Amino acid sequence: MRSLIDILDLTTGEIDGLIEKAYDIIANPAKYSEVCRGKKLATLFFEPSTRTRLSFEAAMYELGGNVIGFSEAQSSSAAKGESVADTAKTISCYADIIAMRHPKEGAPYVASLNASIPVINAGDGGHNHPTQTLADLLTIHREKGGFDNLTVGFCGDLKFGRTVHSLINALSRYKGIKVVLISPDELKLPSYVKTDVLERNGIEYSETRSLEEAMPELDILYMTRVQRERFFNEEDYLRLKDSYILDLPKLSDAKADLCIMHPLPRVNEISVAVDNDPRACYFKQVLNGKYMRMALILMLLEEAKK
Ligand code: NCD
Repeated sequence: MRSLIDILDLTTGEIDGLIEKAYDIIANPAKYSEVCRGKKLATLFFEPSTRTRLSFEAAMYELGGNVIGFSEAQSSSAAKGESVADTAKTISCYADIIAMRHPKEGAPYVASLNASIPVINAGDGGHNHPTQTLADLLTIHREKGGFDNLTVGFCGDLKFGRTVHSLINALSRYKGIKVVLISPDELKLPSYVKTDVLERNGIEYSETRSLEEAMPELDILYMTRVQRERFFNEEDYLRLKDSYILDLPKLSDAKADLCIMHPLPRVNEISVAVDNDPRACYFKQVLNGKYMRMALILMLLEEAKK
């Protein structure tokens, strides 16, 4: 059974196919409005979410399908001690496809080993978030026309930010990518991502603490929230939470066609004054996420028939 746990589960050819499908959905929504009639998506969210869960649900409704699920661990049998494996086996009796978010790294993978239907990782701890990456890739494609030869700055919590880890994995397969890692020392990209992804793929990268210094060379600036829920103590979070605040003065040295991204939710990292700048792409990312999730649901349900 084909699932999506890691963005690298998809070949670059398959990602191209999903992007092509998303463009077709954008151009011809009516063509897709009944294609999942009679199918059910289960959203199993053991961690808070606004965009990911609701965009999966909106995606399934726009395909003509239905949705069941829960939005917090406390309202599921996990609160009684049920294992992820048993939950996955149970949901396989009710639904056709699962989207699962869980605070523990690897939980959606365990679910995929036990489910008889496709499982989509909707975020597992500080590890991965492949469908956010699909949203990010469609956004980059729509803004830049492709993925080659881009200089991409990642700014903020690169240690716990799972969207960063997944997007770096995805971009490592394209030509001429340069990565600039902008973070405080305590929130640097984990060394396993540096060695296994950036170095292994020969990706040029640099590390800095200064957003201002990095700004002029960037084609993409990917801002992130400091991941409060993954900190061991509140004091460290409070000290680091406002490390970077992107405002209009900081953009004065940026390229005119910079693409500013953020997976959202935003806390303080981007001043609301930036929202009206034509370079702000983070709400476009939200919409692109729905289209890519529609394309992905279609692909996995099609594969499940085989
Ligand atoms: C992200 C996540 O859950 O990892 N949100 C999202 O799905 N768009 C980013 C975050 O929570 O900071």
